Amino acid sequence: MALLEVSGITKRFGGLVAVNDLDLSLDKGQILGLIGPNGAGKTTAFNMISGFYQPDEGQVIFDGQDITGLRPDQVCKLGVTRTFQVVKPFPQLTVRDNVMVGAYNRTNDRKESRKKAEKIIEFLGMKDMREMAAGSLSVAYRKRLEVAKALATDPKIILLDEAMAGLRPTETDEMIELVREISRQGTALLLVEHVMRVIMSLAERIVVIHHGEKIAEGEPQQIVQDKSVIDAYLGEVEIDVTG
Ligand SMILES: Nc1ncnc2c1ncn2[C@@H]1O[C@H](COP(=O)(O)OP(=O)(O)O)[C@@H](O)[C@H]1O
Ligand SMILES: [Mg+2]
Repeated sequence: MALLEVSGITKRFGGLVAVNDLDLSLDKGQILGLIGPNGAGKTTAFNMISGFYQPDEGQVIFDGQDITGLRPDQVCKLGVTRTFQVVKPFPQLTVRDNVMVGAYNRTNDRKESRKKAEKIIEFLGMKDMREMAAGSLSVAYRKRLEVAKALATDPKIILLDEAMAGLRPTETDEMIELVREISRQGTALLLVEHVMRVIMSLAERIVVIHHGEKIAEGEPQQIVQDKSVIDAYLGEVEIDVTG
């Protein structure tokens, strides 16, 4: 059985069906890309998986357990953590304290959470910034801090929502390496990303959604050649499969 089995999740906002009958499945340590045009329902899907929204229909099974309708903190405790497309640090707190908030998911001990935070901050190359207020970080490092906070919760799956949007190419390359390393260490990732270079170099499988519905699923090379995907989405983004 897959680590994450999402079946038939649906979310309606009034008359709008933001996500319609979506199935997803993710194995341990795997990277699954979720792509689609703006407004396709990607973030809404994340919100349902991570407990921020209750699905109107469908089920989310994690590690064999039905987590549908659980609260975000309960879902996080079980091992599913998400980052936010619009980053949400505590701006007045230092980088270290922000990461410590994540670490408190697994411990109540201040020393232990601090130690863990330091280790993760170093992993993300932010050691020199650990005393800085999160609000004073550049966009690139705010995005990285989101990943640090997520990692500090000791997740089995991280849902990354456009963690590389707005980054420069070199910053993007660094993030790709970090994500690859996180995956190597056994954490599964569900990746929402518009930068196709990122998806192509990281995802083992890609699910494409359009108007809330899955229109394709497969390996990256298959997906970039899929006519319905090109018509719905890839026609409007820059494809660079060389990187
Ligand atoms: N809280 C909400 N209330 C009403 N409509 C929403 C809400 N969240 C998202 N939507 C709508 O649902 C659709 C999917 O949005 P979203 O999941 O954010 O798309 P994506 O992340 O793929 O760009 C959009 O039409 C959006 O306007
Ligand atoms: Mg979104």
